[in-house]
Amino acid sequence: MTIIAGTVVKGKQLGRKLGFPTANVAAKLNGLQDGVYGGLVLVDHQFYLGVMNIGVKPTVGSHLKKTLEIFLFDFHRDIYGEKIECSILFKMREERRFDSLESLKKQIKKDISCAAKRFELIGMTTQNKKENLISHQELNLPDLYFYKKCNDLYGINRGVYNVIDNWFFEYGITQIAYRRIYILSFLSFLTEGDQKTSSKYIKFGAGGLTEKLSRFVAAYIEEPGENRLG
Ligand SMILES: Cc1cc2nc3c(=O)[nH]c(=O)nc-3n(C[C@H](O)[C@H](O)[C@H](O)COP(=O)(O)O)c2cc1C
Repeated sequence: MTIIAGTVVKGKQLGRKLGFPTANVAAKLNGLQDGVYGGLVLVDHQFYLGVMNIGVKPTVGSHLKKTLEIFLFDFHRDIYGEKIECSILFKMREERRFDSLESLKKQIKKDISCAAKRFELIGMTTQNKKENLISHQELNLPDLYFYKKCNDLYGINRGVYNVIDNWFFEYGITQIAYRRIYILSFLSFLTEGDQKTSSKYIKFGAGGLTEKLSRFVAAYIEEPGENRLG
């Protein structure tokens, strides 16, 4: 499973003023596309949901270095100097230059509620803050129930589900809860930008499924390397 691993460093601390304190992560970002993403963040052995911006923050200055910044949901601790690991699950939009910090603030608010909806759709919420996401009940359902959930949400049949599950396993995501996060995120990726087709009943042409899995991995998952968890 992708992980962008890095240490939390001090930014300009403008995020606090905006009302969204962010963790700036010093990490290798080569090859990662700029944009605003939703994802899962591991801090001190616990998973949290969050929204991330990868880019150069054109609203706050020009010629800024490409950075990764994360706003974590339901998180209020100071984590400067700590190592964290971020896994991107879906992209929400491109990074943009806003005319004012006020407009950026409004947009980040929207990003947060958009991400919260997407997380809910894939069965991840932070309602019970003490619960570690990885022990989340839905991610640990018996296989048949979990498959049924995917079938209800996206209309995929058992054969397609098995191909996706095996593909991620072969890719190296051997832990079932992680794999399920990726399965849900992949299914949600397939319906991205596809407003006309209802989100139900995803269809593939010949060879279409593996091609889409490769595209998903290329778009959202950094090359697996030593920072790999799954
Ligand atoms: C979800 C999210 C989306 C963001 N989107 C943009 C954006 O589109 N354009 C931009 O210039 N900065 C964007 N930012 C970065 C903010 O400008 C940045 O968080 C703020 O300036 C605080 O930076 P600091 O921690 O270095 O002070 C985004 C940040 C977050 C968390």
